Formats: sequence, C-alpha cells, structure tokens
Amino acid sequence: MIKLGVNIDHVATLRQARREDFPSPLKAASVCEKAGADSITAHLREDRRHIQDKDIFDLKESLRTRLNFEMAACDEIVQIAVKVQPHSVCVVPEKRQEVTTEGGLDVASQKKSLSETVKKLKDAGIVVSMFVDPEIKQIEACADIKADAIEIHTGKYARLFKTNFQELNEELEKIKQAAVFASQHNLIFNAGHGLDYQNVSQICEIKNLNELNIGFSIMAKALFDGMENAVKEMKDILSKY
Ligand code: PXP
Repeated sequence: MIKLGVNIDHVATLRQARREDFPSPLKAASVCEKAGADSITAHLREDRRHIQDKDIFDLKESLRTRLNFEMAACDEIVQIAVKVQPHSVCVVPEKRQEVTTEGGLDVASQKKSLSETVKKLKDAGIVVSMFVDPEIKQIEACADIKADAIEIHTGKYARLFKTNFQELNEELEKIKQAAVFASQHNLIFNAGHGLDYQNVSQICEIKNLNELNIGFSIMAKALFDGMENAVKEMKDILSKY
C-alpha cells in the first residue's frame, strides 16, 4: 500500500504568525499518527520561518512512526540532521523569498558537493532522498551520488490539474517514466507537493510508488473537518491502490 507522510510545517506557520507557543506541531504530529499517517515530515528552513530547531529534536523524541526531515544541503542544517538522527532526510532547494519549495533540486549540476552531503548523512545512518523534478537527467544524477530515494516534485502536475488537461497528461507521463527509471536504478520512489483529495488519485496509479508527502491540503481540510478526519480521508484514498 502507498504510504502517507504528513507535512506538519503549516501548523508551525500558524504558531509563528503570532510568535506563540501554540498550536503545537508535536500535538498535530501525534493526531496525524493516530489517524494513520505512516510518517511525519518537517522542514527546518534556514530562515526558521516555521519549524524551529527545538521542534525537530522534540519530534524525533516523541514520534511513534518515522521522522522525515526536509532540509537544504547547507553545512549548518546537515550538522543538525546528523545530531537529530531522523529516519530519513529529503534534500530540497531553498530560496529565501519563495513561499514554498518552488522546484526540484538541480542535482545534475552539483554532483560533487551533493555526493559529499549524501555520504555524511548516510554515514550517520540516515536514509537520503532528493527532491527533484521528473527529469531523467536529475534522477540519473541521484543514482550517481548514491542517494537512497527520490521524491518527485508534483507541484507542476498539481498546477496543470487545474488549468491545462493536455499538458497535465504530458507531465503525468514524465512522472511515470521517472518512476520506471528510479526502480531500474534501485531508488525508492516518493512524490509530493501540491497534492490534494482530487488530484492524488492519478499519482497513486503510478507503479513502484512508495510514499506521498502531503501537507497543505490536509491541514486546510483539518480547519473545517478536524485533523483526524482529514488524515483518514487521505489514507482512505491511498488505500485503494
Ligand atoms: N514534499 C516536499 C519536499 C515539500 O517541500 C513539500 C512542501 O513543504 C511537500 C512535500 C508538501 O507539499 P504540500 O504542502 O503542498 O502538500
């Protein structure tokens, strides 16, 4: 069955909007786990706009499932990851001005430095995933630098789902080919970004899909239906595949 990782950054975004000590991302993670989440994702950004260092250490202590630590490949954050020892990390590109992670990491043009990052993290016993666009060149580079997994950026797919059916099918085809290529190179295949209750089904049909990381749509639904229901509803969709 396809696993569901729930991204709880959005709870920290709400807390930081008032610099309060609530709502608690830890409590959110616990509710998500009880509702069936298979893992919890949190992104410690360099600008600390939502998740804070303490959140990451506390999550590692309290989670009953797995912590997937999203991070930029910079020395400061790599050192924190090695200390925290999450089950996995997902290496993402990071720009200060962006609202959210806008595109995949350009692994192909940074193979030397990223292979050192991957080695440090793997030596610490952490499963290493790279967040990339569905491009064969990028996935090949992930295999070359000995990453364990890739997470395909589905943001473009999600945008086209609302706007352009023709281009949507082309993007979906690229994601399918990425999945085949990843499995030929023994890379675990995950996906995420912009996925919601409507657009997730076509992604679920892709063979070899291991885990989806979903945040915004689940938290938006949680506002009205409660977090437990929001997670359960997404799990129900995934369980059909
Ligand atoms: N995966 C990665 C690597 C991300 O950066 C994000 C956004 O933080 C997600 C998944 C979840 O995206 P969304 O919040 O749009 O579901």
